[in-house]
Amino acid sequence: MEAEFWLQRWQQGKTGFHQDRVMPLLQRHWPALRMPDGSRVLVPLAGKSLDMIWLAACGHQVLGVELSALAVAQFFAENDLVPRISRSRYGVHHHAGNIELICGDVFDLDMQMLADCRGVYDRAALIALPEDLRQRYVRHVYGQLPRDCRGLLITLEYPQHEKSGPPFSVTADAVDQLFQPQWRVERQEHQDILSREPAFIADGVTDLSTTLYRLDHLQDPVAVPSAG
Ligand SMILES: C[S@@+](CC[C@H](N)C(=O)[O-])C[C@H]1O[C@@H](n2cnc3c(N)ncnc32)[C@H](O)[C@@H]1O
Repeated sequence: MEAEFWLQRWQQGKTGFHQDRVMPLLQRHWPALRMPDGSRVLVPLAGKSLDMIWLAACGHQVLGVELSALAVAQFFAENDLVPRISRSRYGVHHHAGNIELICGDVFDLDMQMLADCRGVYDRAALIALPEDLRQRYVRHVYGQLPRDCRGLLITLEYPQHEKSGPPFSVTADAVDQLFQPQWRVERQEHQDILSREPAFIADGVTDLSTTLYRLDHLQDPVAVPSAG
């Protein structure tokens, strides 16, 4: 997916992926990670997700990365936060309390930027990317996270021929292939959700489920040159 695609989605208000509440799957499964207070948690392809507010309220240092300046502006405005702005080679950093949201490209992050992240939360991020980009994303972002980093990944599965993404269907086998052996992958919860997703039904999708995985990084990070 080109950057322009996402920038247009935000400009046109086509942001059906955004949830007006914190994800219950996150609230249910995050505590089991036993992430120490103050840990830095990466939220890649963050949008204006309220999950960042929840993670910050848990006492974490949240590091979100989002391409769209509109999404970033809406995140702070809608949560009554006034960010302090700074700039770096990663993009435009917005700081408010224990949330830092970079308006920039996730592929510009490097090992140095990711070195302190003890946690990662991936909702509608991996599955927002087409297959070729997904591999690059996992290598670039997950590959550069430190050993012992752990987190949660939420995917969708549906017959891909019934609808074109995003969001894309990412099967359990595909998750294993993308992450193992560098990461331990544990499936924690699987739900059939078609009846709750009228837009998928309207598109002719006959089967839709969501899966939450716990991820644990077992290897040392490997530096990848940034895109730019
Ligand atoms: C499907 S949305 C999910 C947003 C968020 N995770 C959520 O749960 O609401 C994907 C987001 O990723 C952003 N995005 C796409 N490509 C990106 C990239 N290369 N770097 C940073 N953000 C990106 C898009 O602008 C969009 O807001």
